[in-house]
Amino acid sequence: MTPSRTSQSTSADPPSTGGAGAAERRPEPEPSLTAVILAAGQGTRMRSRQHKVLHPLAGRPLISRVLALVRGAGARPVVVVLGHLADQVRAVLPPDVSTVVQEPQSGTGHAVQVAAGRLRAAGAQRLLVHLGDTALVRPESLAALVAAPIGPEAPVALLTARLADPRGYGRVIRGPDGTVLAMVEEIEATPEQRSVDEVWSGSMLLWSDWLWDRLFHLPEHSRGEYYLTDLVNLARGEDRAVKAVLATDEDEVRGVNDRAQLAVAHAIVRQRTIAAHQAAGVTIVDPATTYIEPEVQIAADVTVQPGCHLQGASRIDADAEIGPNTMLVDAHVGEGSRVWWSVLEGARVGRDVKVGPFSHLRPGAVVEDGAVVGNYAEVKASRIGPGTQVHHFSYLGDADVGASVNVGAGTITCNYNAETGVKSRTVVEDGAALGSDTMLIAPVTVGADSMTGAGAIVTRDIGPDEVWVGAPARRARQRTGPRRRATPPATAKGPE
Ligand code: UD1
Ligand code: CA
Repeated sequence: MTPSRTSQSTSADPPSTGGAGAAERRPEPEPSLTAVILAAGQGTRMRSRQHKVLHPLAGRPLISRVLALVRGAGARPVVVVLGHLADQVRAVLPPDVSTVVQEPQSGTGHAVQVAAGRLRAAGAQRLLVHLGDTALVRPESLAALVAAPIGPEAPVALLTARLADPRGYGRVIRGPDGTVLAMVEEIEATPEQRSVDEVWSGSMLLWSDWLWDRLFHLPEHSRGEYYLTDLVNLARGEDRAVKAVLATDEDEVRGVNDRAQLAVAHAIVRQRTIAAHQAAGVTIVDPATTYIEPEVQIAADVTVQPGCHLQGASRIDADAEIGPNTMLVDAHVGEGSRVWWSVLEGARVGRDVKVGPFSHLRPGAVVEDGAVVGNYAEVKASRIGPGTQVHHFSYLGDADVGASVNVGAGTITCNYNAETGVKSRTVVEDGAALGSDTMLIAPVTVGADSMTGAGAIVTRDIGPDEVWVGAPARRARQRTGPRRRATPPATAKGPE
């Protein structure tokens, strides 16, 4: 992540820089912080049947990203204000997040009023208010806001930013000595106020005791709206201080109001994630064609070739090489392994494994150390033992394949009986050699060090060392000649 310096009007210490996912790892700051996320607005400019905050940003709904951010700042509990399409949004929220419905939606101040009962009941000293469409605030900036020393005499702290183009945002008006004097919304600002480039980001820290006595005294604006930002003016009217924590990164305040802004937000998250990995020692050959979601973990000395999509809870260990043109979804690739032109979903790959090109590892695929899963192979819910080779055009589903097995080209586990609808497992024990185009009609076991001939249709269990051929395969003869492996294991491994 590019270092983000945040300066604070009351403290000179910049917060430390966190890496990707820092939000989850941050130690709990001061206790007694609760939060409210405002997401009742309609978001008409998205022109969507889906609520704005449900649109994914880097793989997760916008609201989930905001929630993680707010929780990362140490806020418990978190209340979300919903309105438009409330049921839709509630469905993606974890059960421990409480929601209130704001109907009609009469402004950001009104939204907090609606949540007040729930928030007061939590009894927290401080309240963090965060807008539901403001997902790009960096964890370290939010931490700096939450660390702002507020109290009865300074009951409000704002996270602000300076923007090259501040249009559309609420302006923060400061006096000559830098003290925050007022906040004014764009539509009510004088031309002089509009020229101010410092805006409120959408994140505000409030002193609860002060807030609960003032919240219901916010002035009403045109169209019957109540602005949260008027709390700044109420505090100043009582001669109480308002703190401002300035985020230096102007991207942090970017909201998502339409599809173009959603794409911009996506690009910002992507760029930050890539920068964080580069800083941590990952080679990203072509950042312009690399898409890494923020939750992906990548060890130092991994190389990511162009055209990769690394998603979900994927993890890549040291010295692995991914791509070109590979997609990982919740996949784990072990040390020194190489995966190219392939798709891995919910799969686990050990050390020094080769996968690809054009392989598809589906959920439950486990490829153990030193194995090779080559061209056009599909593996699902199967273990591929160490040193086993699956080179060409194979489908292995619901199978347990042992160590040092050679899976011939075109081998298929016929794991599904269309008549009964039952899926069955196939076991191939250590050292077996399956001839090209072997059909394994599950449930079936192929014994250790046995062999099948090309085109064998295996309908019955094969014992260790046996050779089976034909369709359906019949036992051809006793083994003659040396075994394929010099020293077979003492005991053959059964299914796990
Ligand atoms: C708001 C701020 C502005 C700030 C900007 C930052 C106010 C009055 N203005 O303006 O100072 O610079 O955000 O992005 O607060 N919402 C509700 N209920 C409502 C209205 C809004 O829950 O009745 C929610 C919306 O769903 C949205 C958020 O609050 O997530 C912000 O509302 P929006 O209308 O986008 O405010 P802005 O005009 O962007
Ligand atoms: Ca907005």
